[in-house]
Amino acid sequence: MCAADARHLLVAYHSRSGGTQTLADAVIAGATSEEIDDVDVRVRRAFDATADDVRWCDGIVLGTPENFGYMSGALKDFFERIYYDVLEETRGLPYTLFVKGGHDGEGAIRSVEKITTGLAWKSALAPVLVVGAIDDAAVERCHELGITFAAGLEAGVF
Ligand SMILES: Cc1cc2nc3c(=O)[nH]c(=O)nc-3n(C[C@H](O)[C@H](O)[C@H](O)COP(=O)(O)O)c2cc1C
Repeated sequence: MCAADARHLLVAYHSRSGGTQTLADAVIAGATSEEIDDVDVRVRRAFDATADDVRWCDGIVLGTPENFGYMSGALKDFFERIYYDVLEETRGLPYTLFVKGGHDGEGAIRSVEKITTGLAWKSALAPVLVVGAIDDAAVERCHELGITFAAGLEAGVF
């Protein structure tokens, strides 16, 4: 149970064939683990995430596969819907990112970073990129990303 003044963490991600979903599950498990006391975690599929979800949060974790050298259409749709609605209100919002690529993933990272730069969101932790098959180490990296981001929000260090 979170206190009334709990920090708010939004996870917004897309997955079509399940790879990014596995990574998202690990991020969420980290962010909601018992080491974290006072962070309220809200999870939204990118197509369902709204400007109000972004306004609600104190930090956001984005997740996407790389498709055609770019972020998924779903995450791009999210940015297109929220960009001008939240632009003036969310400058400095801490964020981080996880990307699932088949053979690359750097294009997806760059595409997200261009937009978060436009929004003036603050990269709180380096992105996690998982290329190819998802092994235990990849799941662990995403779990670590979730727990570290939540702990940073909780401690107010971002
Ligand atoms: C239409 C399409 C385009 C893709 N383009 C890329 C790409 O440009 N670079 C890459 O590394 N992987 C690419 N992939 C592979 C996906 O990133 C990979 O299969 C990923 O695990 C899909 O994520 P998901 O399982 O969460 O849907 C592509 C896959 C599809 C279906």
